[in-house]
Amino acid sequence: MALCRPFALPRQLLRPVVRSSLGYNTEQRNSFATAVPPVTQDATSSKGPTAMVFLNMGGPSTTGEVEDFLSRLFADGDLIPLGRLQTYLGPLIAKRRTPKIQKQYADIGGGSPIRKWSEYQCQEMCKLLDKLNPESAPHKPYVAFRYAAPLTEEMYTQLLDDGFGRGKGGRAVAFTQYPQYSCSTTGSSLNELWKWRNRLEGKNANGSQDSTGTIQWSVIDRWPTHPGLVEAFAKNIEDQLKTYPEDKRNSVVLLFSAHSLPMSVVNRGDPYPAEVAATVHAVMQRLNFSNPYRLCWQSQVGPSAWLGAQTSDTVQEYVKRGQTDIVLVPIAFTSDHIETLYELDLEVMEEANSPGVKRAESLNGSPIFIQALADIAQEHLRKGEKCSRQMTLRCQGCKSDRCLEQKKFFAGEEASSLVV
Ligand code: FES
Repeated sequence: MALCRPFALPRQLLRPVVRSSLGYNTEQRNSFATAVPPVTQDATSSKGPTAMVFLNMGGPSTTGEVEDFLSRLFADGDLIPLGRLQTYLGPLIAKRRTPKIQKQYADIGGGSPIRKWSEYQCQEMCKLLDKLNPESAPHKPYVAFRYAAPLTEEMYTQLLDDGFGRGKGGRAVAFTQYPQYSCSTTGSSLNELWKWRNRLEGKNANGSQDSTGTIQWSVIDRWPTHPGLVEAFAKNIEDQLKTYPEDKRNSVVLLFSAHSLPMSVVNRGDPYPAEVAATVHAVMQRLNFSNPYRLCWQSQVGPSAWLGAQTSDTVQEYVKRGQTDIVLVPIAFTSDHIETLYELDLEVMEEANSPGVKRAESLNGSPIFIQALADIAQEHLRKGEKCSRQMTLRCQGCKSDRCLEQKKFFAGEEASSLVV
């Protein structure tokens, strides 16, 4: 069980945290202030400072935040499409599920570690970036979660308070922390960012749409096969494989597990299943295909059809067939969260009831991973692109004007005509 394994947070993450009204802790704000004294975008000789904004779904840091978290999650039609009844059904489902989910968070230590990890990863990446890409330094770390604090609007307000926008311009990079793109995850976060950008910076005081002096956004929208990401996954898998006797090591099954999607989203043409498969293939290539492997999907909710095979069924089936040595590999998330610490460690592994069923460590504080983040960001900043070409193409079944307008905005003037 992961909770019995060493779950070593870096020491700075274990210090008491004091929240500010904006959702940032004072320690982090102080570290911003120390690293980056007043922002001076109007100093046109410099390309910095640059805001690096990590986008992710987030999670409740305490059990008291669970209901709000679930309410936002079930209200998001990009993630869980409930049709016209979304605004009615979403809160009902959230309320009904709250006690059960609160218990799950209590069982993993009282809250999700995703905020601590995201803030740590972003801060460490920015330190590396300052050295790798001094021309866009200083790089300032921000986190924007879709369903928990710090929410997108809190992050945006903080950016404005820190001296970005409001006539001064400045550059910000929205860096998705979902390596593989889905319209349910990265797409939803970008829709939210675009919404708040329009609310907080869309119009000038005189009502015009002139964007002079607003924050200039670009997006790192996917990185499923980046060599640093692949190396970080491969290293954690190798470390876990070493815990098996040498003569059995190559017959351990590697079970890559990613969050599932409703089939309605898959059939709309969402790129996520293909991109997750690309990550799996790249990791196996790096491991020289040393072990048999499968990709399976977890965390389905509700009665509608979801992409399978399910992770829990897969483990049970293999164990029943006598394949009792299995390493579970969370392949679509960059840190621990409820789906690893509770679902995989406390449900799937306990149900398997076999000591040979284990889990590879999540990326969390992996220095290889943090270096990869810095390399990805550096490449993006050097290229000066607004987003990937792939992001300009909407899903075949997409009927959403919001997706269309959001993509046009982030693609920028030059590439907005490519959005179809
Ligand atoms: Fe994929 Fe709109 S749902 S682009």
